[in-house]
Amino acid sequence: MQMKGAKALITGGASGLGEATARRFAAAGADVTLLDIPQSNGIEVAEQIGGRFVAADVAVTAEVAAAVAAAAEAMGGIHLCLNAAGIASAHRIIARSGELFPIELYERVLKVNLIGTFDVLRHAAQHMAENTPTDDGERGVIVNVASIAATEGQIGQAAYSASKGGVMAMTLPLARDLASYGIRVNTIAPGIMETPMIAGMSDEVRESLSHVHAFPKRLGRPEEFAALVQHLFENTLINGETVRLDAAARMGPR
Ligand SMILES: NC(=O)c1ccc[n+]([C@@H]2O[C@H](COP(=O)([O-])OP(=O)(O)OC[C@H]3O[C@@H](n4cnc5c(N)ncnc54)[C@H](O)[C@@H]3O)[C@@H](O)[C@H]2O)c1
Repeated sequence: MQMKGAKALITGGASGLGEATARRFAAAGADVTLLDIPQSNGIEVAEQIGGRFVAADVAVTAEVAAAVAAAAEAMGGIHLCLNAAGIASAHRIIARSGELFPIELYERVLKVNLIGTFDVLRHAAQHMAENTPTDDGERGVIVNVASIAATEGQIGQAAYSASKGGVMAMTLPLARDLASYGIRVNTIAPGIMETPMIAGMSDEVRESLSHVHAFPKRLGRPEEFAALVQHLFENTLINGETVRLDAAARMGPR
């Protein structure tokens, strides 16, 4: 699909990877709606890029339904749905203190990262199905965000890895399911990217994570992620795929 005039819904669009993609799409002439939590910087980012903001917690289905409908109505449809809303978590199953992994934390991570992604994309797909197809029969593109932790989760990442593994695993069935509507579904599995999510970790953890990349030996830039989203949006033949964006990283146990 073409960037100019595209109608893009970006969850997690107020920060990090979602924000960088929102900026790239807006600069290329797309109409952009950011979906993020009310306490995010969504309004400010939307103002800066000439887009709009809808507030929702992707883990609350009534909020998702209302926010996606509002975005589709404001833009007159949806061509791109990028699911970049997500949360990180780190907890050992049995912590050194003896505390067990809190089951509420496990449920929350699955609810936001996996179920929230599915909920947003199913509502977005409903609107995409109403689009007039391109000459190639295309009506929309969905891009989800997993992580290399989907396949190489480290100690403490049981919940996060399960959520991202779920995103990766559902990519092909989603693409098959939506093929008859001309809607493609792909997933990006980033390595370690320079975003507020990583900035919140200690210097020691950040330093150890930056060595995970083989080359280039630095953290990934959000703009590099945004460029890949653009390519997945524009290249009609890529479908049902998970693309690693990780500088040949393979994570060890810690
Ligand atoms: N940064 C990395 O190294 C990295 C690596 C692999 C995967 N990822 C994934 O990329 C995605 C984006 O991460 P990021 O690094 O840009 O993080 P980030 O924290 O900068 O941005 C995440 C955004 O999601 C929003 N969000 C969180 N929970 C939400 C909810 N319940 N409903 C709506 N919005 C919510 C936040 O408010 C924030 O704006 C996440 O899914 C993350 O797991 C990041």
